[in-house]
Amino acid sequence: MLKTNYIAGVGAIAIIVFVLLLAESCKHDPEIIPLPDPPVPEKCDTAEVTYPGTVVPILSTNCYGCHGDLTANAGINLQDYETLAGLAQSGKLIGVINQASGFTAMPPFSKLDSCDIVNIEKWVNDTTFDPPGGGIEHPCNPDTAYFQNEVLPLIISSCATTDCHDILTEEQEILLVDYASIIKYGKIRPGEPEESELYEKIIKTDDDDRMPPPPKAPLTSEQKDIIRIWIKQGALNNSCDEGCDTTNVTFSETIWPTIETNCFGCHSGPQPSGGVTLVDYTSVAAVANNGKLFGAINHDPGFIPMPRNAPKLSECKIDQLKIWIEDGTPNN
Ligand code: HEC
Ligand code: HEC
Repeated sequence: MLKTNYIAGVGAIAIIVFVLLLAESCKHDPEIIPLPDPPVPEKCDTAEVTYPGTVVPILSTNCYGCHGDLTANAGINLQDYETLAGLAQSGKLIGVINQASGFTAMPPFSKLDSCDIVNIEKWVNDTTFDPPGGGIEHPCNPDTAYFQNEVLPLIISSCATTDCHDILTEEQEILLVDYASIIKYGKIRPGEPEESELYEKIIKTDDDDRMPPPPKAPLTSEQKDIIRIWIKQGALNNSCDEGCDTTNVTFSETIWPTIETNCFGCHSGPQPSGGVTLVDYTSVAAVANNGKLFGAINHDPGFIPMPRNAPKLSECKIDQLKIWIEDGTPNN
């Protein structure tokens, strides 16, 4: 009895639903009113927060325009790792981006995406900044590869030569001129040199594929090692204070290392840039003795400033070259 009633009930409901559906389908072309999107739960990936992969892209988009190598508002260049590390440790970085009371709100006219803020906070919390305090000059550690001192000059002189990787062209969308571009276009995976395209290219041995391409010489094994160690150590935008020895200047220990790192890549091979060859003692001394070497590195009027596309050499290196030239360019 109960069962029959139940079946009758279900049947009745089915008929009602059917009629309703039929009525619905007879209405012509109902206008489709889109429902507002439901609030999307915020997706914020904090699994792999790194300085080059996470922090640099955020700062590059939101801060470098006002706090970069070219314009440093309030004297703050956030592209300089030491400066950033100092601000991170003092709590100022987190204060300004959270626009917390007592801090100047940064960026001034907007606020970072909440996921970006979470990522930067995670980076600050997870990083042991070395040396503490930031901004403290620290001497070069022989076991560390430094981006500003070694990697950047090497890449600029071997990879950013004219018509190579110094401007973006349509055919060749690669630009390797500063930290952000090297990380991006070199597809650097911090800690994993073998997974980083830049490193893969420089260790290739066949001429069709390697970087720099022929007729340039491949990088030496020491040069490849600098890049490998730098990536392995986290691919930081780091630098160190090399100290400045101007009492003991020799060609082999002082001058040649400077030329090799900063000039050799462009001024070697069968077509050296500007027809200027800087490959050994004889060629360097010749350019030094005609006055062009010093004029170019000191950015004297009437000379083309060198190294091309790169920051001026340090005062120390310029002084050392001056001393060596004034000593009569000895082959010592
Ligand atoms: C539109 C230009 C502009 C942008 C973009 C910008 N800043 Fe600033 N920033 C300034 C100026 C100008 C000052 C100096 C403000 C003052 O003293 O009132 C400043 C000051 C600062 C200070 C020092 C604040 C203090 O109280 O001492 C920090 C830290 C800072 N900015 C970080 C950042 C960060 C991080 C970003 C990106 C998230 C950023 N800024 C984006 C222009 C900018
Ligand atoms: C990225 C490639 C590149 C690097 C790195 C580079 N040069 Fe040059 N250099 C050039 C080019 C290209 C020219 C020709 C300039 C021109 O015609 O615009 C040139 C020209 C010169 C000249 C002739 C300048 C003149 O006024 O006649 C000297 C000297 C020179 N370079 C020295 C150096 C020294 C020293 C270094 C390292 C400290 C260096 N270069 C690094 C590409 C480079």
